[in-house]
Amino acid sequence: DRRIKIAPSILSADFADFGREIRAIEDQGADWVHVDVMDGHFVPNLTFGPPAVAAFRKHVKTVMDVHLMIAPVDPYIDAYAKAGADILTAHIEAGPHIHRTLQAIRGAGMKAGVALNPGTPADAVEHLLDLTDLVCVMTVNPGFGGQKYIDMTAKVRRLRAMIGDRPVHIEIDGGMDPTTAPLMAAAGADVLVAGSAVFKGGSVAAPEVYGANIRAI
Ligand code: DX5
Ligand code: ZN
Repeated sequence: DRRIKIAPSILSADFADFGREIRAIEDQGADWVHVDVMDGHFVPNLTFGPPAVAAFRKHVKTVMDVHLMIAPVDPYIDAYAKAGADILTAHIEAGPHIHRTLQAIRGAGMKAGVALNPGTPADAVEHLLDLTDLVCVMTVNPGFGGQKYIDMTAKVRRLRAMIGDRPVHIEIDGGMDPTTAPLMAAAGADVLVAGSAVFKGGSVAAPEVYGANIRAI
């Protein structure tokens, strides 16, 4: 399915009202819900873990796309499977055994994603493409919403060529807005994560605002 999908990141939602925030973005046409898990170690910020993700699951009717910015990953894979993640993405930089990690994610019944920091080349996933359902290209250094977009057009083009006919999504994460999103779609991306551009104004769920912003992207 190469249709462009929008995956709002609830990192920019009201943390005291996730249920309402998730309903609002899905009512307004979100294709997936992107959940940013941070451990204060792999990235310099801390969000939530498996019990919170399990609580989100009760509200997500579309696809729950869980982006792990944690190290290590392997000890937590089963917990995220039980929490109800549909897609579980691990960073290639988070440990020495990404190949094993992707096998374990699929083994636990989820789709497996691999994320690349801005400094990591496309070629790093060459031997992983048959083990992965999604390559997440970070267009910011992970850890925070609302950062400035770092252009990764050449990396996305190269990945699209490497992927060929395989059913592998290319997801872009960071700094997506109505200007940057079309550049990434043209380069070959099909899933666009957007935090601050969707949850404009932050803390209050305002469906008419989400809707306008999702459609703009
Ligand atoms: C960054 C997260 C992103 C973040 C994107 O570490 O992985 O998903 O929420 O936020 P924006 O769209 O504001 O750059
Ligand atoms: Zn993310």
